[in-house]
Amino acid sequence: MGEKTEKKYIIKTWGCQMNVHDSEKIAGVLSSLGYSATESEKQADLIIFNTCCVREHAELKVYGNLGRLKKLKEQKDDLIIAVCGCMTQQEEVARHIAKRYPFVDIIFGTDKIHKLAGFIANAKLTGGTIIDIEEDEEGSIIEGIPAGREEGVKAWVAVMHGCNNYCSYCIVPYVRGRERSRKKEHILEEIERLGQSGYKEVTLLGQNVNSYGKGSEDGVDFAGLLREVNKVEGIERVRFMTSHPKDLSDELIYAIRDCDKVCEHIHLPFQAGSNDILHKMNRKYTKEQYLGLTEKIRTEVPDISLTTDIIVGFPGESEEDFRHTLEVVERVRFDSAFTFLYSKRRGTPAERMEDHVPDPVKHERLKRLLELTERITAENNSALKDKTVEVLVEGVSKTHSGRLTGRTRTNKIVHFEGNDSLTGKLVNVRITDPQSWSLFGEVTNG
Ligand code: SAH
Ligand code: SF4
Ligand code: F3S
Repeated sequence: MGEKTEKKYIIKTWGCQMNVHDSEKIAGVLSSLGYSATESEKQADLIIFNTCCVREHAELKVYGNLGRLKKLKEQKDDLIIAVCGCMTQQEEVARHIAKRYPFVDIIFGTDKIHKLAGFIANAKLTGGTIIDIEEDEEGSIIEGIPAGREEGVKAWVAVMHGCNNYCSYCIVPYVRGRERSRKKEHILEEIERLGQSGYKEVTLLGQNVNSYGKGSEDGVDFAGLLREVNKVEGIERVRFMTSHPKDLSDELIYAIRDCDKVCEHIHLPFQAGSNDILHKMNRKYTKEQYLGLTEKIRTEVPDISLTTDIIVGFPGESEEDFRHTLEVVERVRFDSAFTFLYSKRRGTPAERMEDHVPDPVKHERLKRLLELTERITAENNSALKDKTVEVLVEGVSKTHSGRLTGRTRTNKIVHFEGNDSLTGKLVNVRITDPQSWSLFGEVTNG
């Protein structure tokens, strides 16, 4: 019989920053219950999978990993296994997991993190799988769950939840529910606390931050919120994502231009270049409107970095349609682009559309698109050679001691020699060797 030690947990997270941030909240709840984190599944008393279902590939990875847990459970009878996140928000998926992987003790939805203590307490009593994924009251947001953030320089802050856009390919509105904004006071209080405890950068999160505050009583929109966040003491940089082109207002562009802490970077997914495809995607803008918007942004904030998401092979996409996508990339010259093969999602309108593009055609288009986006990223980066940029130092490189890593205001990763004491500081770095995925340089002050 070994000594009774503290209980340990491990959380595995798939998906977007919203999920990463939810995992921080789960960690916060667990540490208030006396659990501590471990890196090893073997040592863990509680394993939580926080899942994503935005593309089929994401789901398959989760299923693969779930299968693996069966053995662990057999070896350790009191191990608790929980699955949460976007996958489990679909009732049929939750039921499938409970049936196919009966060793899973708890399945809980994205709005149930505050109930985790009760689930854990009951897990051993009930025997079967506890499933709690039902949607709470429309419009409710549970405040006051302390995020167990890793100590550091940057923090994620959710400003809204859910999505109302129903892009025809996308499952997020079905699994994350209706769009609802957190109250301005709650957001500002959280960021003030972050500033006081030494965080230097916050990223405001939402599926579509540009529609923040729609229908709210205090009338504060996203531009207004940014101007308030810009005043928070201790915070040096403010970022946000994601922006939907249809809702990006002039006021927001002016707020980015005027607010010293708001960084010059917008992640502005355009998804496809063809107007016909954009219409079928229900994106509610045209190629011309998107290009016009990027020009307007660059007129006001000339050095801004634009990044994007692109889907290849949406149903009905012809070679001609795809060329419009390439053209947008050529015209806007994104600093980076996340490119995805269209993936059929259960229950979405696109699933039922005709003319699904054959896999080999999708792959061939993706290859051409990647060649173009990678070339442009590399060219944009080379233009920074010998330029001096402001870098927020995030810490010592994981692979090279003596080397620091940080980011430019435009969100590019920079590596340079330096001492750990610079972590959390803003330094000027002259770029000596720009590469495709990161920049190398030398500190000129600090
Ligand atoms: N709310 C954000 C993005 C959420 S999902 C936005 O609207 O920009 C992140 C990206 O995944 C999307 O921008 C899109 O490019 C991609 N995506 C979403 N559903 C997809 C699907 N069914 N197949 C392929 N890519 C998809
Ligand atoms: Fe999905 Fe569109 Fe909402 Fe983004 S805006 S989460 S792509 S439905
Ligand atoms: Fe995935 Fe859910 Fe985010 S489906 S992309 S984790 S909102």
